[in-house]
Amino acid sequence: MTLTPQEEAQLGGREIRRVVFTAEEVDARVRELGREITECYRPEDRLLVVGLLKGSFVFLADLVRRIALPVHVDFLVASSYGKGKVSTGDVRLLYDPESSLSGRAVVLVEDIVDSGTTLRKLLPRLQARDPASLEVCTLLHKRTDGDEHSPRWVGFDAPNEFLVGYGLDHAEDFRHLPYIASL
Ligand code: IMP
Ligand code: MG
Repeated sequence: MTLTPQEEAQLGGREIRRVVFTAEEVDARVRELGREITECYRPEDRLLVVGLLKGSFVFLADLVRRIALPVHVDFLVASSYGKGKVSTGDVRLLYDPESSLSGRAVVLVEDIVDSGTTLRKLLPRLQARDPASLEVCTLLHKRTDGDEHSPRWVGFDAPNEFLVGYGLDHAEDFRHLPYIASL
């Protein structure tokens, strides 16, 4: 794996195992997702894209710029992983979107769906706010167990490795990498 000086500097001496999806592959897939989402809604649906922070911030920023419809953006802050690599199953909601969801087409944007615990906890809370529709768009999907809340849009099937970059972190490191790598 050869990294440019800029990429070396971003890593600051920390090791990644391999690049799993390059910046070019991610960009191409995000464009497709933007097109697919555009085809599913009309302007009168008042599309609201809700990003789950912090992991989705890069993906969401790129995705909304590929949606050819009027869109509003809000965020949700939940916390489940702490500093580890394994989900604790305890999903705390630290910030709820202030936007009214009622009667609107809502798309929840996730960086990665692993066990599905986060979605299982959050979707009912959003559903309770009476959106006209509620769908999930995730950049990555590990598909580890039953997908009772399977996302409508998936960027990539993820290998069962711990991934970082393009918003995904390990203990807050690596979010700014323009590609997706495994540790
Ligand atoms: P779930 O609740 O098990 O589906 O896990 C979802 C959340 O765990 C995501 O929003 C991520 O923040 C985090 N997560 C799961 N797998 C990874 C990974 O490989 N890298 C970084 N974060 C991950
Ligand atoms: Mg995270």
